[in-house]
Amino acid sequence: MNIAANSLEHHWMPFTANRAFKSDPRLVVKSEGVHLWDHRGGQLLDGSSGLFCVAAGHGRTEIADAVHAQLQTNDYMSPFASGTPGSFELARKLAAILPEGIDHVFFVNSGSEAVDTALKVAMAYNRARGEGQRIRFVSRERAYHGVNIGGVSLSGMVKNRETFPVVMPNVVLMRHTWSPNERFVRGQPEGGAELAEDLQRMIDAYGASTIGACIVEPIAGSTGILVPPKGYLERLREICDTYGILLIFDEVICGFGRTGKAFASQSFGVTPDIMTMAKALTNGAQPMGAVAVSDKVYDTIVDAAPENAIEFFHGYTYSGHPAACAAGIATLDIYENEKLFERAAALSDYFLDKMFELQDIDLITDIRGYGLLAGIDLAPGAAPGLRGSEVQTRLFWNGLHVKFTGDCGIIAPPLVAERSHVDEICSIIRKTLEETGH
Ligand SMILES: Cc1ncc(COP(=O)(O)O)c(C=O)c1O
Repeated sequence: MNIAANSLEHHWMPFTANRAFKSDPRLVVKSEGVHLWDHRGGQLLDGSSGLFCVAAGHGRTEIADAVHAQLQTNDYMSPFASGTPGSFELARKLAAILPEGIDHVFFVNSGSEAVDTALKVAMAYNRARGEGQRIRFVSRERAYHGVNIGGVSLSGMVKNRETFPVVMPNVVLMRHTWSPNERFVRGQPEGGAELAEDLQRMIDAYGASTIGACIVEPIAGSTGILVPPKGYLERLREICDTYGILLIFDEVICGFGRTGKAFASQSFGVTPDIMTMAKALTNGAQPMGAVAVSDKVYDTIVDAAPENAIEFFHGYTYSGHPAACAAGIATLDIYENEKLFERAAALSDYFLDKMFELQDIDLITDIRGYGLLAGIDLAPGAAPGLRGSEVQTRLFWNGLHVKFTGDCGIIAPPLVAERSHVDEICSIIRKTLEETGH
């Protein structure tokens, strides 16, 4: 494919160095299985499942066919006070794989919308139970909860918030769980559970009765795969229970087999009150997110409203869009029929072995990993993030797509990947970092 001069100017790309990209574009024009093809005809391995979405591999005809058939049968209907069958079916299928007691699903169109919706669910729940003064949210340093105003308010990543100072008030941050003493630790670090006591400190400082919810990613994903220390999530749950604070897990990256079970909540044995999800919900084939809530949260909000009155004044034009629901249903069928969550669990050991073999490379300063997720920190260059973007570009032209956040590469192959693909990911990373040098 030829790219004419200036023909890329009109699209303002998200989270992209637009000038640099447009002077040296990297477009993907085809995808199938674990592979991508760039506009020059080169083949790449997809080392990050797109952006952690494409768990079942690219080009799944079952999903495309389901979306096509749905659009031909019924392309759209208002989701407010009317409905289409697909959203109910998808919600039932999700409830079957969600942790026990989390049985109600609210549909949105992205992870960011899921986070903002979860915050509103927490506010509505607290108000419905007569605790409307619980206006504070506890989040965490290095958290990524999307880019809408609610999610940015919760964010613990400075670049994502410093340009946007006008965000929601009353958000306080716990410390993150990465420790320089726990480098190259595979799986859950032994130390660090005491960091959950930061929640107790917030309670001691602000008063439990002012805190509505505590939100964390079970594994902090976008910031570079910070795996929770042993006992950490359990302790957060305990403190929330003691003080009547809702626990929200943001499972936008962790959900759908990435940790070896349907959700990280199940992998770590800790059940939140509210869960957000998106990305692999439709295998990336349609934009969709969702918020799943416990029976207690749902019943409290719904039962508090008078008969025939709307209980929750929230929703999007495209909540539960028929095409997205069709994609979601077909995706969950693939996960089940091909036992992809079990497959991820089975591949995890091999994947982590191979990732941690990279630790002899000078440029790598830390590796973390769990399930089919690994974060690889590189020694920064002249300024934070420069090395990351240089390496990301070199990897691409060497045949590997990897998502970078600053100087951290995040590896998350599709759950259908074979061991040979993992080997290839590692050898391209090694070769590229050797070429890069210090
Ligand atoms: C944990 C988490 N929450 C929310 C989001 C936002 O999702 P989206 O980009 O679909 O809005 C992301 C995206 O990476 C995420 O990782």
